[in-house]
Formats: sequence, C-alpha cells, structure tokens
Amino acid sequence: MELKNKVAVITGISKGIGFELAKQLIQKECKVYGLGRNSNDALQSDLFHFIPCDIRNKNEVETAFAEILSRENQIHVLVNNAGLGYFGFLEDISYEIWDEMFDTNVSGMFYCCKQVIPQMKKAQYGHIINIASTAALEGMPQVSAYCATKWAVKGLSESLFRELRDHRIKVTCVYPGSTKTDFFRNSPGIKPHDFMLMPEDVAYNLVVALEMPDNFHTVNLEIRPLQPKGPKPTN
Ligand SMILES: NC(=O)c1ccc[n+]([C@@H]2O[C@H](COP(=O)([O-])OP(=O)(O)OC[C@H]3O[C@@H](n4cnc5c(N)ncnc54)[C@H](OP(=O)(O)O)[C@@H]3O)[C@@H](O)[C@H]2O)c1
Repeated sequence: MELKNKVAVITGISKGIGFELAKQLIQKECKVYGLGRNSNDALQSDLFHFIPCDIRNKNEVETAFAEILSRENQIHVLVNNAGLGYFGFLEDISYEIWDEMFDTNVSGMFYCCKQVIPQMKKAQYGHIINIASTAALEGMPQVSAYCATKWAVKGLSESLFRELRDHRIKVTCVYPGSTKTDFFRNSPGIKPHDFMLMPEDVAYNLVVALEMPDNFHTVNLEIRPLQPKGPKPTN
C-alpha cells in the first residue's frame, strides 16, 4: 500500500509502539487518527488527529469511528495496538486486573474491528494489524492471564484473515518479544533494558508490512530480540 494520503487509525498512541508508529506513518504523509485516553504533544502535525477514547468502552469506540468516517471517505488502515499486561500467579490475579486486560486487549480490539470492517468490505480494501505478543505463542509461568488475552488475539486474527481475504482486506497479527516501553510498569520484577526490541524498530517492521504490494500478505509477524540477554561470550 502506498501510505501517502491514506487514512490510518491507531489505538494507544500516547507512548511506546503506537507512538512510534504514528510518527513514522506521519513521515510517510499518511493521515493518522490516534485513539486513546491520552495523546502525546510530540505528535504535532496537520496529519495527526487525536480522538479521546477508552477502547474498553464500546460507546466511545462507536462515537470515535463515526467521527472519523464523517470526515473521511475511507479508513485504509486500523492498527489495534492499545494493550497492557499484568504478570503474576493466576490465583493472585484480581478480578479487576483480569477484566482490565480482557476488556482492553480483546474486547477493545473487537469493538474497533467491528467499526471498520463494513466500510473496508464496501471499499474492498484495507489492512488491519493486531498487536499480539510472543505470549500468544507459548505458555509462560506467571503470564497466564496476559497469555490468555493474547492467545485470544491470535485466534481472532487468524480467523479474521480467512474471513476477509476475499474482500481484499489484509489482517496481520504481530507477535513482538519484549520491547523497551512503559509496558513493564505493572511488572516490578522486569526492568526495560537495551537488549529488548526498540519500539521504533517494531513500528518500522509494521510500516514495511503495510507498504508491501496489494497481493503480498504478511499474515503473522514474529519479532524477537536476537540476544535478549545481551551477547554471550564466544570461545
Ligand atoms: N512492550 C512489550 O514488551 C510488548 C511485547 C509484546 C506485545 N506488546 C503489546 O504491544 C502493544 C503496545 O504496548 P507498548 O509496549 O507500546 O506499551 P505502552 O508503552 O504501555 O503503550 C500502551 C498504549 O496503549 C494505550 N492504552 C492502554 N489501555 C488503553 C485503553 N483502555 N484505551 C485506549 N488506549 C489504551 C496506552 O495509552 P494510555 O495508557 O496513555 O491511555 C498506551 O498508549 C500492547 O498491545 C502490548 O500488549 C508489548
């Protein structure tokens, strides 16, 4: 897809991967609508529009997309990026934390997909990117609740890909490993460090996936740091 003059919606642009992606899409002269609870002052551009929206709230999501579609003929790209994780033994996960993760990582994604799919089908064109995690590919101790949300994202994405491919709509599910963002604020045992992925590099990989030719489809994108604990001594 040629990104210039296209319209992209990204959830969660205040920081991290979503922020870096918004910056890179704007550099490509793509019009970006950022949905989230907070914006970021660094996203100063005529091509950027912030729409306050807690994606856990289906009414706010409906209103946000109605506003975008009243201004734009078409949304070409949806990036479901907003998400969060709490780690810990399953029995220690509170009901509130469980609901917060599922409401954001899974239901919020569903609400946003539901708003764009009808108009993408009408246009017979579009690209939806869902950010899962390597936690969607393997079980991990003390990550059971977060894994459950991201396995749901994997299932939704792989099924949606098969629902939409004949409408010329791509669905890409992204599985990043640990990325140096604010994500780990809820996990006091893990400190972000320089051997993690950098959010700007993850964002760049998404731009590449978006820019591929119309008949080239990146279905799954597994991204990991090559040496997550740093270089190992060699003999
Ligand atoms: N960092 C990692 O190691 C890693 C690895 C694999 C996958 N991921 C996934 O990558 C995605 C981005 O995470 P990140 O690493 O960039 O983390 P981050 O720096 O914490 O950013 C998360 C973004 O999501 C937004 N958000 C959270 N809840 C929201 C809600 N209810 N409504 C609207 N926006 C909401 C946040 O905005 P506000 O809080 O300002 O509203 C923020 O902009 C997430 O889906 C995460 O699960 C991260």
